[in-house]
Amino acid sequence: MREKIVAGNWKMNKTFTEAEELMHQIADGLEQMEEDKVGVILCPPAIYLEMAIDISEESSFFVGAQNISEHESGAYTGEISAPMLASLNIDYCIIGHSERRKYFEENDELIGRKVAVAIHNNITPIYCCGEVLPERQAGNHLEVVKMQLEKAVFILPPSEFSNLIIAYEPVWAIGTGVNATPEQAQEMHAYIRRLIGAKYGQDIAHQMTILYGGSCNASNAGALFSQPDVDGGLIGGASLKAEEFLKIIQSV
Ligand code: 13P
Repeated sequence: MREKIVAGNWKMNKTFTEAEELMHQIADGLEQMEEDKVGVILCPPAIYLEMAIDISEESSFFVGAQNISEHESGAYTGEISAPMLASLNIDYCIIGHSERRKYFEENDELIGRKVAVAIHNNITPIYCCGEVLPERQAGNHLEVVKMQLEKAVFILPPSEFSNLIIAYEPVWAIGTGVNATPEQAQEMHAYIRRLIGAKYGQDIAHQMTILYGGSCNASNAGALFSQPDVDGGLIGGASLKAEEFLKIIQSV
C-alpha cells in the first residue's frame, strides 16, 4: 500500500509566534484525531524549522523545508544546504515549486540537481510539476508534465527515484480558488503513474505517492482524494488555518 500524505506548504507566511501557535494547534488536533493512515508534513519557512522539529517530537507530524541549495557547503550567502537540513532531522523538502520556477528562475536542470543532493542526504524531495494555463488551454498539459519529469527526475536511478514524492500542482490552480476537477487531477495522476511504470516498472509506479496541489481546501479535498491515483495533497493557503488543515487531513 502506498503512503497517503497531506503536506502543508506555508510559503512565506506567519511571524514566529503565529507559527508557534499554528504548529501547536495542529499538533493538538492530530493528537485528538489519532490519525495513523495519513502522513502529515509541515513545511514552514526555514527560520522556523528548528521549532517545528522540537514540536514534532511530541506530535505525529513530520517536517519539511521549502527549498534547498544545490551545493552542499561553501560561499553561497543566504542559502541552506542539504547537510544542514539533515543535521536538524528534516525529513522532506519541497523542490521545483512553480513559485521557485517563476520568481527565482529555477529550471529543470537546477531542480534535478537539488533533487539529487536532497536524496544523497536522506531528505525526501516533494518534487512539484504542473502546467500553466495556456499550456492546458492548448491541450499540452500532459506533454509539459512529461518533459518536467524527464528532465528533472527520470534521470535518477531506480533506487533513488523510489524515494521521491511527486506533487502535481497545475499552476493555474495555485492560489486562485480554481482547483483542478477530480477528473482533471485523476487524468494527470494516472498519466504520471503510467510514465513511471514505463520508465521504472510497475512496482515502483504502484508504490509512488502522487499528491495534488492547487486551491485544495476542506470542501473539495474529499472528492479529489477519492480519486484512485490521488494519494493526498500539498496544501498552500488552507494549511495556514489549523481547523481547515485538520479537516483536509480527515478527508483522506
Ligand atoms: P494553494 O493551496 O494556496 O493554492 O497553494 C498550493 C501550493 O502551491 C502548495 O505548494
